[in-house]
Amino acid sequence: MPVRIEHAVENTTPAANQAAKRMFIKSYGCQMNVYDGLRMAELLTPLGYELQDAADGADLVILNTCHIREKADDKMFSDIGRFRKTAADNAIIAVGGCTGQALGAKLMQQAPAVSIVFGPQTYHRLPEFIEKVETGRTQRAAGHKNAPIRVSDTDFPELEKFDKLPQANSYGPSAFLTIQEGCDKFCTYCVVPYTRGAEISRPVNHILEEAQEMAENGTRELVLLGQNVNAYHGEDVDGNEVTLAKLLDKLAEIEGIARLRFVTSHPQNTTQDLMEAFRDNPKLMPFFHLPVQAGSNKILQAMNRSHTAEEYLAILDKVREYCPDIAMSGDFIVGFPGETEEDYQQTLAIAHASKYVYAYSFAYSPRPGTPAADMPNQVPEDIKKERLAGLQAVLDNSQEEFNKTFEGKTIEVLVEEMGGKIDQLRGRSPHNVAVNFTTGLTSEKLNRRLIGDILKVKITEAGAKSLMGELIS
Ligand code: 5AD
Ligand code: SF4
Repeated sequence: MPVRIEHAVENTTPAANQAAKRMFIKSYGCQMNVYDGLRMAELLTPLGYELQDAADGADLVILNTCHIREKADDKMFSDIGRFRKTAADNAIIAVGGCTGQALGAKLMQQAPAVSIVFGPQTYHRLPEFIEKVETGRTQRAAGHKNAPIRVSDTDFPELEKFDKLPQANSYGPSAFLTIQEGCDKFCTYCVVPYTRGAEISRPVNHILEEAQEMAENGTRELVLLGQNVNAYHGEDVDGNEVTLAKLLDKLAEIEGIARLRFVTSHPQNTTQDLMEAFRDNPKLMPFFHLPVQAGSNKILQAMNRSHTAEEYLAILDKVREYCPDIAMSGDFIVGFPGETEEDYQQTLAIAHASKYVYAYSFAYSPRPGTPAADMPNQVPEDIKKERLAGLQAVLDNSQEEFNKTFEGKTIEVLVEEMGGKIDQLRGRSPHNVAVNFTTGLTSEKLNRRLIGDILKVKITEAGAKSLMGELIS
């Protein structure tokens, strides 16, 4: 799902008796990158790298990048320039993620400060890459002029990284777990099939082991990740194929796991058993992110979305039949090549009709190598901007309306962290809305103890993006 956040991975402890070197990891883009960034930190901590939340003075800077829109690439290049100045003099700068995958070694020509380029499928090899650069630098200092001091690895070794990564130890009450990666859908605007590769599903027992470990370390909510997560079809130990719905059933049996979610899905893979899971699996939260992208059938076809607007709305109706309380959300692109004012009006119409609780919307960004980038009738930037603002107004409105329906109600909140004030906590509702609430407890220690609990909170006020409330004792 496209939560577009830039973050620094949380702090972890360096291995004892090794001189701590400092690392900074910046993850751009989607939640899968957030998950990958955490795993990179866990991989490098035993090598003596201590994580810090800024590039200042860092010996290793990793940019875990996103290639989905041009803006994300631009930000990465300007960050490289910035971090090069603030990091330690001899810092190793590494670029991973989807831009690393897409540009490969070419990236180093554009940004000579970069020593390592890798992709989403090779980050488990980071220790090797770092060692190669360090060895090369030492050899150069000793007079070997041609010693290699750069590494680029954009291989696609299927599932290898999951076997090579250490078990994680820094999961929170709500934590991501990648179960599927890659995409075979080839929407004509999207780089994901090229950067993340073909669809692959992790084996069931690997996922269950990781989930068990997470539960033992305090995770209460699992957010299953995949570019096409509802296309999941992993094998169990007997070689039987398991659907997402079946996997959710198995995960629901793990002690300590109270909530399950998954992102992001494709309408084509919204199967009967998944709809039944929303009705029958009590741990599966009533929230479903199902991007539609556009409301005009002409544009949906040009996007290669494999469904019409009517078919999409019929899927929503059916999902709501199984789970009347479900909160739906989606993604939109405006200004796709050939989009007329009439097409855009149809996008506004489907945004109304879908009754999303929230949705992400983007101006179309032509991506090199994708079919849509070469389509005629590209829409001028100023029109894209105007259309985006119009759509966002519609979506903000429906989000606020949805949030208002909770005023005065009592809901269950999974507490994830401390709030802004000493007696405030922050968490999420079953419908995935952020909730800030007061506890009436003035001791930080007592409040902190509630992190990870699922508490009843009375909602006193609904904002555009979050809810405010108070703890019911
Ligand atoms: N331009 C704009 N938005 C895009 N997305 C994917 N590719 C592009 C692009 N080229 C959006 C889609 C997708 C989300 C993750 O990003 O809405 O669902
Ligand atoms: Fe991109 Fe379409 Fe695949 Fe989603 S389904 S990752 S938008 S190609």
